[in-house]
Amino acid sequence: MHHTTREERERFLGQAGYNLFLIDAKDILIDLLTDSGTSAMSTAQLAAMMRGDESYAGSESFYRLKSAAQDLTGFRHVIPTHQGRAAERILFTVMCKPGHIVPSNTHFDTTRANIEFTGARAVDLPLPEAADTQVQLPFKGNMDVLALERLIEEEGAARIPLVMLTITDNSGGGQPVSMANIEAVRAVTARHGIPLYLDACRFAENSWFIQQREPGYADSSPKKIAQKMFRLADGCTFSAKKDAFANIGGFLCTNDDRLAEQEKDLLILTEGFPTYGGLAGRDLEAIAVGLEEVLDPDYLRYRIASTAYLGRHIADRGVPIVEPPGGHAIYIDAGRMLPHIPRNRFPAQSLAVELYRHAGIRSVEIGSVMFGVNAKHELLRLAIPRRVYTQSHIDYVVEAILEVNERKHELGGFEIASEPKFLRHFSARFRPVR
Ligand code: F0G
Repeated sequence: MHHTTREERERFLGQAGYNLFLIDAKDILIDLLTDSGTSAMSTAQLAAMMRGDESYAGSESFYRLKSAAQDLTGFRHVIPTHQGRAAERILFTVMCKPGHIVPSNTHFDTTRANIEFTGARAVDLPLPEAADTQVQLPFKGNMDVLALERLIEEEGAARIPLVMLTITDNSGGGQPVSMANIEAVRAVTARHGIPLYLDACRFAENSWFIQQREPGYADSSPKKIAQKMFRLADGCTFSAKKDAFANIGGFLCTNDDRLAEQEKDLLILTEGFPTYGGLAGRDLEAIAVGLEEVLDPDYLRYRIASTAYLGRHIADRGVPIVEPPGGHAIYIDAGRMLPHIPRNRFPAQSLAVELYRHAGIRSVEIGSVMFGVNAKHELLRLAIPRRVYTQSHIDYVVEAILEVNERKHELGGFEIASEPKFLRHFSARFRPVR
């Protein structure tokens, strides 16, 4: 990571086809591309890694992870994977086939892509009110339960192998899901015999929002709240790169013995033996410690406050963000900020490019580039790595965004020059259009 000149950044952008994923990290000054795998590990995590048991089978480190995950989630089977999407691929490969439908509040891109890869259909059922990025709601990540009931009635429970809830709702602005909503979804799925799974990447941030915002939880610890959320579900997928502060790792949990057998068979084929699942023993140790650390109320208070700090400082100066600020990231509503750039000219991509060109800051488009026709908004996400940046870094980001906002009318759109079949935002190349 180093300082670059505007001319250099212009050249890097051209070489990268205006795709920030294709720019070298050393040429980025402040990297808000993702909060995934980019957090700083604690001394306790690093110390735990020193006792990583690297045995191929039956590693002590696995049993420590299993015990931490079971204490938190209560699930019978804990299947380690190298990251969240590996858990997704295994889960959906085992549970889905063509003709199936998997509803969620909002699927994340890898979740959607892994479902579609099996031939099934991924359906988003967010709250209708959440369509307005400016509306202030405490639990804007909630699923539309009536829409879920309608979908089950129309399509039949037999075609819905599972329902997912993404906590927090990453693609929908890092917004939390309330305990009442999880309970309501649980009631519907239980009535129809459909398993409920949590995409639990940011479970601790979700727990904090419940403690702060949902009546009846002010006196519960984040851990108690998390334990309750998990116990309403039949299983989960988890990326330990988020709320477990790990650089790599994840797991898949289920209470279903028969499914677990099939999942472990697939795991051995592609990830590894079920007591390491594509991870080193030291990674399993880091995750086990991270699962505990993330539920510390002092950490969560600081974490959520620092994200809100960025959000308030730009929103109060007229930059439209998804309100209220999310847990892990601030999302600028680029469609609203840049109304002169039509959706098919990717306003959020344009803003991402300009923020890099202007200040060396990397962010990510969450809109029509990432989701194609399924995009509900044209958002630019500024994701905050955990325990990495200080307030003065964030002040620099605020300043840069406000400067770009001053001359937003000068920004132009982009078109796609080349793209891959899946997850095009990772490697598509763009051309500016004037
Ligand atoms: N689900 C959600 C809600 C996510 O945010 C992610 C990853 C995944 C699943 C997949 O996990 O990366 O470990 O395979 N989100 C990252 C992000 C990449 O930048 O938001 P993974």
